[in-house]
Amino acid sequence: MQLKNATYHIQDISMEALAEKYGTPLFVYNAFTIDRQINRLQNAFDGFPHRINYAAKSLTNIAVLKLMCSYGLGLDVVSVNELQMGLDAGFDADDILFTSNSVSFEEIKEAIARGVKVNIDSLSLLETFGKEYGGSQPCSIRLKLDPLVGEHEASTEWHNKSKFGIHYSRLDDIKALIDTYNLDIVGLHVHNSSSFLDIPVYVKAAKRMFDIARSFEGLDFIDFGGGITVPFHPEDETIDVNKLGKALTTEVHSFYDDYGSRPEIWFEPGRFLVSECGYLLCSVTVLKGDRDLPYAGTDTGFNHLLRPKLYGAYHDICNISNPEGELQNYHITGNMCETDFLGRDRPVARIREGDILCIKNAGAYGACMASNYNSRLRPAEVMIREGKVQLIRERETYEDLVRNQLDVSW
Ligand code: LLP
Repeated sequence: MQLKNATYHIQDISMEALAEKYGTPLFVYNAFTIDRQINRLQNAFDGFPHRINYAAKSLTNIAVLKLMCSYGLGLDVVSVNELQMGLDAGFDADDILFTSNSVSFEEIKEAIARGVKVNIDSLSLLETFGKEYGGSQPCSIRLKLDPLVGEHEASTEWHNKSKFGIHYSRLDDIKALIDTYNLDIVGLHVHNSSSFLDIPVYVKAAKRMFDIARSFEGLDFIDFGGGITVPFHPEDETIDVNKLGKALTTEVHSFYDDYGSRPEIWFEPGRFLVSECGYLLCSVTVLKGDRDLPYAGTDTGFNHLLRPKLYGAYHDICNISNPEGELQNYHITGNMCETDFLGRDRPVARIREGDILCIKNAGAYGACMASNYNSRLRPAEVMIREGKVQLIRERETYEDLVRNQLDVSW
């Protein structure tokens, strides 16, 4: 988003005009940013054979999936519904990896019936899978490494106590099941802590994965999951993916030297591809100036952007109606009937009632985590691509809200 002639623009489209045309709250996505982020990753990892599978959970909209498909990416899905959306968007089943957890075996069977590869994340599931399919159906194994680092416990999945994956100390048990059921293990998987910035830790984990991989023959891929983060705060550093790519290149090639074949290295980014492309526009409904620090109340809340409430996440906020106004500090809240800060004590250009605020980094885990709490409707979503605006989800209506509710007479 750029400031041109005192108006915020994306690809020459005025954000204020968008808010006026589509109303607020509104999710706006800039396809150019997605394009840039994909290129960054592809270039960073071009020193070794790799594949990027978009993590569909981060921004799940068929139009977005279609865009990812048009870039030749694969897809990481967590449920059969995500899987079906991927197929509907045009992905080949072969390019989809189903990484679920705590799902029923019926759902795993359903995924296999739809032609995708499954990633198995517990010993008991591996056994059930072995009994059902033996070696006739390839699968990969999701491993859990030792605790590493992450931004917030709830989004830190390499944690020892995490529910995800099979701890790597259980390798002998995995091997025993492989022997018993003659399993065809084609890949190993680990998901980095979501929100990852520490390259040495990433590389340490990669080395551990390669050590483990040496004891499996004929792997097709080793999957490092998602987790590469992006700046949220204006002072956050940007992860140098080229530096990460270089460090990984050394490790990958030393693994290839003694492994015998060259399994592809897979990544499953969500946040890195779509966080920065997204903006949540909202209107200031009320200013309460009766405190030292004024409250600016808006027509959105944690029903639309849950991250500040759930993780204490920081999302930068600016006033697009008064871009050159003097900075003042505000508490910016939603309209939920609960305490719902979108930003606390934030310097924002002077806010007036009716102004449009823009909450940044709203692409990943924004719309897809939205709810109807307080019986509020979920916003519309638009994508700006090649200078054109495309509505990719309509704003909900009252009818959507009550669609599945049954009107009984007591
Ligand atoms: N692969 C697997 C197996 C995952 O579990 C995840 C995210 C990803 C890939 C994509 O991770 P990313 O590149 O986006 O960090 N709602 C939280 C994030 C939860 C992440 C869950 N798994 C948030 O808003 O921060």
